[in-house]
Amino acid sequence: MTDTPNSSMSQTVPIPGADQSDFVTRVPLPPPRRDALSRAILDLKRKLNAVLLAHNYQVPEIQDLADYVGDSLGLSQQAAKTTAEVIVFCGVHFMAETAKILNPGKIVILPDQDAGCSLEESCPPEKLRALQATNPNFHTVAYINCGARVKALSDVICTSGNAVKIVNASPPGRDILFVPDENLGAWVMEQTGRKMTLWRGSCYAHVEFTHAGVMRVRRQFPGAPLVAHPECTRAVRLLADEVCSTEKMVDYCKHSPASAFLIATEAGMIHRLRRECPAKRFIPVPVANCRCNECKFMKMNTLEKLHDCMARLAPRVELDPEIIQRARRPIDLMLQISLQPLANAG
Ligand code: 13P
Ligand code: SF4
Repeated sequence: MTDTPNSSMSQTVPIPGADQSDFVTRVPLPPPRRDALSRAILDLKRKLNAVLLAHNYQVPEIQDLADYVGDSLGLSQQAAKTTAEVIVFCGVHFMAETAKILNPGKIVILPDQDAGCSLEESCPPEKLRALQATNPNFHTVAYINCGARVKALSDVICTSGNAVKIVNASPPGRDILFVPDENLGAWVMEQTGRKMTLWRGSCYAHVEFTHAGVMRVRRQFPGAPLVAHPECTRAVRLLADEVCSTEKMVDYCKHSPASAFLIATEAGMIHRLRRECPAKRFIPVPVANCRCNECKFMKMNTLEKLHDCMARLAPRVELDPEIIQRARRPIDLMLQISLQPLANAG
């Protein structure tokens, strides 16, 4: 089965019943096609003894089929412990790569191998190596949104869900070099009081949220808490009632007494939140005249491509064994620190 060039998946419409501030979404697949593809995917999953891992930003029809839907930390933890023979990773390339590093002997496939990340692009390994050479006392903390070769050059990996904990656990006498997200890095510095050298990278989607956009939607929903991802700029983070990873957004909204929330992160998160908290309302913070609150990379994965990749067992993530070996150490360290009951846990 292949992608149809005129697929209705590329069109956008306002959500029925939503007001002006609500987001636009893709036209869903016609139900009979969605059902047929979903059944075929579940069938392949059984035959392959595969596990289907999906990030919170994936399209709803993929989230609804996954064995596990979560943030980068949860997905790494799931990848580390799976007994499945095949890992089908619905997210972006660096996430599938992380799963391969944790499972060199398994087949790891992803629906679209071009699903990149602006943070990963911002940090080529050669440039990182050159910066590291300027200070032998650097302790490199790499946000998981980076390539395997950058991971291989790092001392420890972090995700948005554990960055505070990882930085707090870093050796006191060392100069921390935090790569590649300067917004997450700045937030971690505020939380930990630890000075760090920040790589100048950012998420092209999260930096589109602005102070003005938040104020505009706040006037419409004055009592709704603002929940923002730490990849947002400081101007947005300062307005937020909670700054956290996508998985912690679910916890926060579940346990908050509020019944409506403003969400400043990628639009796919709204589906997960609505599934987890059906009685509550989630309002995406608008971005100016564009669909920039949809990550174009995350949205490269479609149900059709998911079916194709499982049917063909391709594209596969393949990595140099030496890179796997070197990148594994800082990922294992992250997973180990994440389990430790430390004060100020991120
Ligand atoms: P989370 O780990 O919080 O889900 O973030 C991943 C990501 O890519 C954010 O843009
Ligand atoms: Fe990368 Fe931003 Fe997309 Fe996350 S939302 S995968 S950080 S480009």
